[in-house]
Amino acid sequence: MKKKRIAVLASGRGSNFQALIDAAGAGTIPGRCIVLFTDNPGAYAIQRARAADIPVTVLDFASFSSKEAYEQALLAAMRRTKAHLFVLAGYMRILGKEIVAAFPGRIMNIHPALLPAFTGLHGQRQAVDYGVKVAGCTVHFVDENLDCGPIILQKCVPVLPGDDEDTLADRILVEEHRCYPEAIRLFCEDRLEIDGRIVRIR
Ligand code: GRF
Repeated sequence: MKKKRIAVLASGRGSNFQALIDAAGAGTIPGRCIVLFTDNPGAYAIQRARAADIPVTVLDFASFSSKEAYEQALLAAMRRTKAHLFVLAGYMRILGKEIVAAFPGRIMNIHPALLPAFTGLHGQRQAVDYGVKVAGCTVHFVDENLDCGPIILQKCVPVLPGDDEDTLADRILVEEHRCYPEAIRLFCEDRLEIDGRIVRIR
């Protein structure tokens, strides 16, 4: 099977990006990371890309005159990659409608909560505050609404007595690092079929 071209967008630490680099390097995923895009010149993800010989494109949000100008530059750069798949790995901006529409079924995100619960920022804190007994992560395709696209995989973890945002986030992160490479592998193996809200795994 021909390897799929994967472009990654990350704004920070990049541990999910690292999990993808490791899985692709181990041959678990029939795909390769062809570029890291970041909006943050200080993102630790940049070091991870350099260590893995993955080209980095920094589109420093602060250097653009407007959100629209930034989005246009990002869209043009994304088109140039000819990537099959775009992976949001801790990308801290909401993708504009034009970008989402340009790559239907080709942008994935991971969210640290069991969607549709606890969308937006601090999913883990929302789970602790709400008092749920089970939390987890969700990998989904990106559509025009925040944390709302068709769900590919979910993994759950218990919420334990005494948990705070950080202890729960650490427990969820372990599952994220399994779940995201698995979903990306399924995509790269052409095994994901989107039917409305339902993602079928062939
Ligand atoms: C993860 O918790 C992910 O679910 C969320 O942002 C965080 C990114 O972490 N979307 P990292 O940068 O991959 O370490």
